[in-house]
Amino acid sequence: MGSSLGDNFNLLSPQQQELVKVLLDNGQEHLFRDWPAPGVDDNHKKAFFDQLTRLDSSYPGGLESYIKNAKRLLADSKAGRNPFDGFTPSVPTGETLAFGDESYIKFEEAGVLEARKAAFVLVAGGLGERLGYSGIKLALPAESTTGTCFVQQYIESILALQEASSQGESQTQIPLVIMTSDDTHGRTLELLESNSYFGLQPTQVTLLKQEKVACLEDNDARLALEPQNKYKIQTKPHGHGDVHALLFSSGILKVWYEAGLKWVLFFQDTNGLLFKAIPSALGVSAAKQYHVNSLAVPRKAKEAIGGITRLTHSDGRSMVINVEYNQLDPLLRASGYPNGDVNCETGYSPFPGNINQLILELGPYIEELSKTGGAIQEFVNPKYKDASKTSFKSSTRLECMMQDYPKTLPLSARVGFTVMETWLAYAPVKNNAEDAAKVPKGNPYHSATSGEMAIYRANSIILKKLLQLQVYNLPQTTE
Ligand code: UTP
Repeated sequence: MGSSLGDNFNLLSPQQQELVKVLLDNGQEHLFRDWPAPGVDDNHKKAFFDQLTRLDSSYPGGLESYIKNAKRLLADSKAGRNPFDGFTPSVPTGETLAFGDESYIKFEEAGVLEARKAAFVLVAGGLGERLGYSGIKLALPAESTTGTCFVQQYIESILALQEASSQGESQTQIPLVIMTSDDTHGRTLELLESNSYFGLQPTQVTLLKQEKVACLEDNDARLALEPQNKYKIQTKPHGHGDVHALLFSSGILKVWYEAGLKWVLFFQDTNGLLFKAIPSALGVSAAKQYHVNSLAVPRKAKEAIGGITRLTHSDGRSMVINVEYNQLDPLLRASGYPNGDVNCETGYSPFPGNINQLILELGPYIEELSKTGGAIQEFVNPKYKDASKTSFKSSTRLECMMQDYPKTLPLSARVGFTVMETWLAYAPVKNNAEDAAKVPKGNPYHSATSGEMAIYRANSIILKKLLQLQVYNLPQTTE
């Protein structure tokens, strides 16, 4: 073996030798540069191969695919290629709900019944750097009158749905998957175990841990080593898009399907309002037979929230997808909307604001993942040293987002959305107090305080509407 690995190659298992060959064929000689002869640093070398094997097995298609995807995406980024080239945006069709009106109540009642065929998936692998909280976000109190933490609030909502949807028949047990990462796994498990899973049966809960991905040091997608340790590859989070591959490879989707489940509901770690919106949105999924239903809120033009958009390509491709706010304006301008991202006569952007809570129909979901293995279209966001775009300020990596799932769906897929009032559905806790205070006027703070206040506010509005409706039988006022 004439590689820089030298005699070390003969120390490897056949499986490791295969992996080395793949890496060498894909321009990764530097990983083994300057390795001392066998007998020196052998434990470090073994740990290095353990890490490589983990990185290889946790990515659909292995490290070879990762490197190839990275080369392609880095070349596109360097060339300034726009992933939306050739696509024309238009406003997709979906459902807009107004809390408490007749159709809302109809969808909500239907959704509560559907919940017995639902499974929930909470993505909770994020570090929450913007929040700057040292613990896991799921352990944060959603509000301080009761001190109920987010995961407890979520689980109590699932238990309430479980009870309400069983309608006196033998009670179903709604499953909950929590996607964790090395940053959150241990503390999530500890929080659940030390609180008896907040009332769920431990068998209802499955934790799936996402792995980080290898960092890339240059446009040739050479994997980056730790500066102080040549036997360790730098890694960073790959994003919440990992949830699809993890669910698929775990086999749990098939188990759910065989148990007669029909819906998978994805949600995030710190939205204290979400479960108020879930039943009616699930009712919409059932009534409209949506394979994909994205929960959305009205969006002000240029607001820093992605817009749900239909994109149609000149070659016939079409998809309903989240377009990040910084991409929506240029895309509109380039496609015959000279004013770009502006409000329409309603005072809002015609593109609903994506809140990243998805309801997928399980059957078509499994069918799609059987083709893709759960791989989600990725992106790369290198910070270049200068305009030549030849080197990076620091290593980068590929990332993926769970809301990009519909990108690979066939034209026949039924992809829609449900717009809810913001006060009812969306108040995430993402920003620390200092940064929240700097948010431009009129934009949401998304801080712990604003999240807490939104819960109280929503409870008050709901009580008021119920009083108008049920006690006094008065016509409803608007919020
Ligand atoms: P956020 O956008 O809030 O990102 O993630 P974050 O990483 O948690 O926080 P910042 O950006 O560092 O401040 C949205 C949801 O996706 C999950 C988060 O836990 C949150 O529920 N997530 C994010 C993952 O599960 N894995 C990831 O790799 C990233």
